[in-house]
Amino acid sequence: MSRPVAEWVNVTDDISIVARESGEVWFHNRSEANSRPDPFAAPMEGAGAPGSTIGLLDGALNLAFSTIEKQLARPEPTLAGYIVALVGAYHTSVDTPRNLRRAAKRFQDMGRLEVAAYLELRAREETGHDRLALKDLRALGVPGERLVASYIPEGIKPLCERFDELCAEDYPIGSIGYSYCLERIAALKEKSDIENVGALCPDGVDATRFLRSHSSLGSEASHVDETINFVASLPADDRTKVVQETYRSALIMAKGYNHELLKSETQMRSEIEQALGEELPQLRIPSLSTTQKLNESAVRPG
Ligand SMILES: [Fe+2]
Ligand SMILES: [Fe+2]
Repeated sequence: MSRPVAEWVNVTDDISIVARESGEVWFHNRSEANSRPDPFAAPMEGAGAPGSTIGLLDGALNLAFSTIEKQLARPEPTLAGYIVALVGAYHTSVDTPRNLRRAAKRFQDMGRLEVAAYLELRAREETGHDRLALKDLRALGVPGERLVASYIPEGIKPLCERFDELCAEDYPIGSIGYSYCLERIAALKEKSDIENVGALCPDGVDATRFLRSHSSLGSEASHVDETINFVASLPADDRTKVVQETYRSALIMAKGYNHELLKSETQMRSEIEQALGEELPQLRIPSLSTTQKLNESAVRPG
């Protein structure tokens, strides 16, 4: 009988994530190992398995997001906030196919054809996603092309820059960790999240194309599964690098997303209007919060 797989990765100076194939995951603090020999001090070497690889990848996300837990913004959703989110979605999608192809070419040149093929596939799957965000903006009456040309939300910029850097590296395996981070977080969105956004939009307006496709209802869930299986098949050194980058990208993402969520509706609205050089037609009337909208519809005479 073969031994169950245990995988581990050192993600900070002190902390290793350890995961078993059974799904068990824990954070091992190396500074607390005292003088005892630390079994996780050296990098892992063996083969991976999907059950333990997912533990490492999601462990990295959890650890990174726990750093902002105390200041976590939980704003009431607004239309202005959704428009900013769509602009962010555009910027994190527009260069993805080109960047992934660049990384694929690098792996092809190194003779790592399986990595090149995986990245090529991802590039094809991600093609056109920026258009979904633009269509959603247009559906809301916002001149999307003009807005995205002059506006990139401050919290989103470092994320885009990170992906550009990763895909241009000599050994761009970290690009897989970055992609996992974005897709896994997107795949956490449920039907109710889409319905909440739908309730913010004017009646009869469908502005949730991007959100639907980047949620548990769309292709994101299968992209996440494909990535887990692919990462599990990689050599230990590659798996280590992917998990370490998942952690770094998630730190940037957590900080950036929270930065955007902490903005007031007035601030977001003024950023959008400043970028457009005009007032937004949809936002002239103060947008109702979801709760207000639902309450109103409940008391409306039938
Ligand atoms: Fe996408
Ligand atoms: Fe995707």
